[in-house]
Formats: sequence, structure tokens, C-alpha cells
Amino acid sequence: SKKKKPKKGPLKFQPIEPTDKDDLVLPKGYKYDVVAAYGDKINLDGDTFGFNNDFTLFFQMEDDKNRGLLWVNHEYVDDKFVFGKQIDGDYSKQQIKTILYNQGGSIIEVYKEKGTWKLDTSSKYARRVTGLTPIALTGPARGSNAVNGAKRVQGTFANCSGGKTLWNTLLTCEENYETTSEAAKLDPTHYGWVVEVDPFDDSFKVRKHTYLGRFNHENTCMGLAKDGRVVVYMGDDKKDACVYKFISKGKYDKYAGKGNSKLLEEGTLYVANFSEGEWLPLTVDAVREAAGDDKELLAKFQSQGDILVNCHEAALLIGGTPTDRPEDVEISPFDSTIFIAHTNNDNHGNIHGHITRFYEKDEDHGSLEFQFAIFAAGGIQSGFSAPDNLTFDEDGNLWTVTDISSSKLNQKVWEPFGNNGMFVIPTDGKDEGNAYQFASAPVEAELTGPSFTPDESALFLSIQHPGEESESLSSPSSMWPHRPGDHMPRPAVVVITGFKK
Ligand code: FEO
Ligand code: CA
Ligand code: CA
Ligand code: CA
Repeated sequence: SKKKKPKKGPLKFQPIEPTDKDDLVLPKGYKYDVVAAYGDKINLDGDTFGFNNDFTLFFQMEDDKNRGLLWVNHEYVDDKFVFGKQIDGDYSKQQIKTILYNQGGSIIEVYKEKGTWKLDTSSKYARRVTGLTPIALTGPARGSNAVNGAKRVQGTFANCSGGKTLWNTLLTCEENYETTSEAAKLDPTHYGWVVEVDPFDDSFKVRKHTYLGRFNHENTCMGLAKDGRVVVYMGDDKKDACVYKFISKGKYDKYAGKGNSKLLEEGTLYVANFSEGEWLPLTVDAVREAAGDDKELLAKFQSQGDILVNCHEAALLIGGTPTDRPEDVEISPFDSTIFIAHTNNDNHGNIHGHITRFYEKDEDHGSLEFQFAIFAAGGIQSGFSAPDNLTFDEDGNLWTVTDISSSKLNQKVWEPFGNNGMFVIPTDGKDEGNAYQFASAPVEAELTGPSFTPDESALFLSIQHPGEESESLSSPSSMWPHRPGDHMPRPAVVVITGFKK
């Protein structure tokens, strides 16, 4: 595969200092505009933008580089801002509908005007995919006992991050489905999957690819093996959980377009064993062999569907290494190494987390052997804590946003970091691994899902859960985005401009 060459040059911005200001603070010369906030109308049908936006992904229009579609995940709902009070589990039917409607994702259309990007509510593409949308299952678990025979399920929720496919669709990942499914009283084996959507085509059936496993999916990152098979890297964002990759059976065909989606229906799912540097196959034979003569396990793992549905347990059984909450996984466009944000894990005293870098054997994503290094460690020396989503710029810098939980922000150990932030980390040269702060989040917010336009003149970014610790609506701890007439904070997607070439 051809690799990009980093453009290089000195850091193009003056890093900011940590702050606890209730705003998205940026370096001198940069500014942000709100593109869409919770509750905003996104189309002429009256669909509205969901709650707690996360992953964003920009799709440029083929014939107009000043126009595009933006996919945005909506991870979960905060009762006090959606219903005006905490409901505590005893939801009415209508409230459950509201919760499910405000999760999933939004497809919005954006256009460039006067140097910034704006929402086009007259879009013919803008629509919602929600916790109520009918979704097909693909792969071995489809129709199996492990999902109660379901071939189709209701909706997607707990959508954290995601990734782009090589055929210009998107994958959105169901993460903490357990907490929402309790509210919705839905079958938990129908959630915790990776979901494929085509933002341009609503006749493309939304689908959950069961071969990518069922766990607390953070995101996906897709690449090609040297022989042309499709490879998908994934993390399971849970304490002591594993890193996975799926390798398709068939090879990618660039002329097949969306037909390549079929490649995600047949292949092998692997789990990383860090002490041997090996990718171990999660096949029926391997799992049953590891089960030995344990009758309970042998009864549990009879089919590939059983293994995919109970992925974490099967992975540990065959020797997958438990790690410190693997969040985003991204392939460097410059040298094909893999970056994994291990956000933190207080079970092992890994309080600030770190970013791990994988080196696949022969730089081949299809390889079953790897080595790894700790690329950057969180803490006061580096200035960041709890790395989460990752993206690259054309200079070879890794951008990471942080996710220190709001309940910790005022505690002594996290005091030096101020609010959550966004950091830029060179991935080679003498500055490799050093972090520079580019943004600071509003009070109690997390920055999520950074996504550049192809020319890197603008960066879309989600501001999630501002003011989430507010005890009452009459005096919220944040009022971001401070829109005139508003009486509460609103999660929103912003666009940052001012990038220097
Ligand atoms: Fe929803 Fe792993 O963050
Ligand atoms: Ca995340
Ligand atoms: Ca997180
Ligand atoms: Ca979050």
C-alpha cells in the first residue's frame, strides 16, 4: 500500500495552557462556530439533532468541495436535560421512545460559507438513524440461538466512535449498551455490535456486522492486508478488555464499491496476546479446545455465533490479553503502525492512561505477529490524562482528545489538567511523543470525534456532556454554548477554522 509522506514543519500553533473556563478555548488565530446542537432541526421533515454527540465523520461531495455530509454519533441521553429531571429507571413508553430517538446518529449536510461551515436544513440527505430504526444482522450470529433467532433488530444506541470504510460508508460502534438497554428493556444480545450506514443512500440497509464481535465497541479502523484482504482494528472499552482485529476471507475490489460490504460477513476475528506478540483466532475450534472438558463452557460456545456474542469471555479463554480500556485505534497513514488509546484503568493504578503503538510484522495488517511500544504516557509531565479519540494531520501529528471523568476533574490528582482538552503529538522526529495542548473543553464536557475536512482547513469536533454534573436545571454548572435565549447547556458539534498551511 502507498504511504503518505508527512509535510512536516514546526508546530503551527501556540499551545494553550490548561483552564477551567466554560468555553471551547483555542490557540490565538483559531475560532469555532456551532454547526448543530441538541434539539436543532436538521431537515424539512422536522427531524432533530440527538443528544450527547460523539464521533463525527466528514464526507465531501464528489462534485463540490465546499459541501459535504457529516455523520454524527449520539451516544446517550441525560435525563435532566432531556426530561427536565432525573427519572431513575421508571420510564414511560413515551420516555423510552424519546431516549431511543435521541441516540444513534445524525446525517447532516454542511456547506462552506464565509470561511466557516454551516448546517443546510433543506438537505435531501439529512436524516436520523436511531434506537428505533429497523436494522439487519449479518454474519454468523444472524438468526442464531445466541440472538434469539433474530435476523433483524430494533435500532442502534450507545454509539460512541466509529470509522470510515474503504467504500465510503461508515461504521458506528455500540459501546455501553448495557446502561441504555436497561432503560429500554430490549434484548441485550441485539446490541454491542458494529453498524454500517451509507450516508448518501437510505436504500442501503443499515446493518450490524456480527463478525466484528459483540463487546463495548469504541471504534473501528480499516486497512488492507498486503494481499488485499480487508482488516478492521477495534478496541473494547472496558477495564481489562482486549484489542481485536478482523481479517476478511475475500479481497477488496475497488470497482465493487459498496458491494465490498459483504467482506465484513466472512473472515476471522483475532484477539491480541501482548506477551507473545500474536493475534489469536477466535474460531470455534480454538475456543472449544481452550475450554477443555469444562461442560459449562462447552455448552456456551457451540457455534461461531456463540463466540461472537460472548466475545470478551471467549477472547480471555484463548489467551487474549486484558488491557487498560482500549479506546480509539487508528492506523498511521505515514508508516502503517497502529495507535491505541489505553485511556486508564484504576484496577492497575494506570491513572492517566497511555497511547500504545503496534508494529505489525513486515508492516502487514494481515500479519499474525506484532511488537509494541508505549508511544506516549499520560501524566503531569506530558500534560494530558485519559486519551480517547485519535486522528492524524498531514504533518504526521497524532491528535488526541481526553476523557477525564467529570467527577474527577476537581480532585487533587487531576487539578493540573483543568478541563478536558485536545492535544497534538508528533509521531516521529526529535519531538516524537511530546504533547501540545490545542483546545480546552467547556466545564464538565468531553471533546470527542475530531474529523478534518480533506484539505485540513477545518476540523469538526463534538462537545459532549457540558455541565453533566449540574445538580439542578436552575443553576447548571455550564451554559455552553451560551446561545442567546437558552436556559441549559447543549451538547453540540462545532467546526474549528484558522488552520495554517
Ligand atoms: Fe464512549 Fe469509550 O468512550
Ligand atoms: Ca470515546
Ligand atoms: Ca471515553
Ligand atoms: Ca463519552
